[in-house]
Amino acid sequence: MSNPVVVPRPTFHFAPQRNWMNDPNGLVHDRGRWHLFYQFNPEGSDWGNMSWGHATSTDLQHWTEHPVALRFRDSEQIFSGSIVSTSTEDGTSLTAYYTSAYANGHQAQSRAISRDGGFTWELDVDNPVLDRGTSAFRDPKVIRYTDEAGRLRWVLLAVEAEDRQVHLYTSDDLRSWEHASVFGPLGPTGVVWECPDLVPLPLDGDPDDLRWVLILSTNPIGDAPDPEGSSMSYVVGRFDGSTFTADSPELVRLDDGRDFYAGVTFDSAPQGAAVMLGWMSNWRYAGAFPSSPWRGAMSLPRQLALRTVERTPRVIQKPPAFLLERLARAAPATVSVGAQPVELSLSGHSVLALTWDPTATGSVGLRLRGDADAWVELEHSARTIRVTRGGPAADAVHPDFPSTSITDLEGGRRGQLLVSLDGPLLEVFANDGEATISHLVTLGPGPISVTIDTEIGGPIAYTAVDIEDEKSGRHLAPTPIHADAPGASV
Ligand code: FRU
Repeated sequence: MSNPVVVPRPTFHFAPQRNWMNDPNGLVHDRGRWHLFYQFNPEGSDWGNMSWGHATSTDLQHWTEHPVALRFRDSEQIFSGSIVSTSTEDGTSLTAYYTSAYANGHQAQSRAISRDGGFTWELDVDNPVLDRGTSAFRDPKVIRYTDEAGRLRWVLLAVEAEDRQVHLYTSDDLRSWEHASVFGPLGPTGVVWECPDLVPLPLDGDPDDLRWVLILSTNPIGDAPDPEGSSMSYVVGRFDGSTFTADSPELVRLDDGRDFYAGVTFDSAPQGAAVMLGWMSNWRYAGAFPSSPWRGAMSLPRQLALRTVERTPRVIQKPPAFLLERLARAAPATVSVGAQPVELSLSGHSVLALTWDPTATGSVGLRLRGDADAWVELEHSARTIRVTRGGPAADAVHPDFPSTSITDLEGGRRGQLLVSLDGPLLEVFANDGEATISHLVTLGPGPISVTIDTEIGGPIAYTAVDIEDEKSGRHLAPTPIHADAPGASV
């Protein structure tokens, strides 16, 4: 028997101090502070007693954990949902929509209001406020739509998960909702749809060419569910304030790794940016992941954009500014990979950016190893990236944990990769965000050795940085939280 795997705690991603976490909920930027609520079990490290945990950040890197915001009751769990911020002469309030998952199996949408910046919540006495009398109606996401006359209208999306449909409702007051349309089903059967989002993005940065991207999380169900488990997809289309019309009948994978799920965007992000956080795990084995006393972490915040790739609009994901700025401050280096591969040593809370000319190198391979008996291999060839996680410490997590993912790339360009590793969280951004691959890994504590090899040699330019944990111990607010959030980092 091998020893249990030691899973280092991430230092530049959010993970709760202890207990189970899944989806990001209620992402909202309000008066300089990013709020992250999340599916949380206040009483244990397995899924259950679902409540909304709460954390805030001023820079999307350092997070302060606050007391539970919305707590389960015996008769009702608080499932996923969203928050929007509104301002009137009386001040700013946050409106949360979440799914009430009742003990009898009924699911409907409920509302809560916070007038102190997200720290205390008042439940609507009329809850649930949106009810179809069904048992898989969930994950309300409220977005804004401004019509041609400049009038703001609220749109709420929620799934009928098993029907693979998104129901859209509209409202002028965030209170009474009118059923506007239904989208779906489409794409693969044998899955439930969860956690929808609808995001306006200018195509190739052109503000006059706004497209709408419907984003979904899908999780296999049934007698023989797909062992690859849960993943995210999107479809680009048009939206007229009531109805979403897809440009194509196909769902495109958002992230090619195994561990990126339930991703949604922040309301009211500065400059209208579409900033997404996802849960870095997979329902297939989330409960078996051997981290302790916490279980579940968020991805890096990613900024979404839409770029034409091979004549098709594709969602691009960019790493957050704090990482790019940290890389820009570091000294770049160039290595010539000859007969021997080149080896770097990283702390394991690190970012590595590489660029090369594929005509000089042929395919490029990276191999990551730490203390544990596991490895990650990444092979970048002309049109594909293959990421394999394997070894006994990967096998030990779950039979479906060892895996190989294959990502197709637009060919013929310079090679470009940004690899972020923060404890067990591996995120690969390829071709300036054209593809992302997010995986949980079990390499053990650092240092992590990275071996760089090429098919035919040639230089590779790289920048490697360890992200210092200059604010360790920052995650837990020591005292009860007030509206002015004394624990928030500046
Ligand atoms: C997605 C999901 C949601 C649900 C929540 C429950 O991961 O299944 O559909 O609201 O998790 O924790």
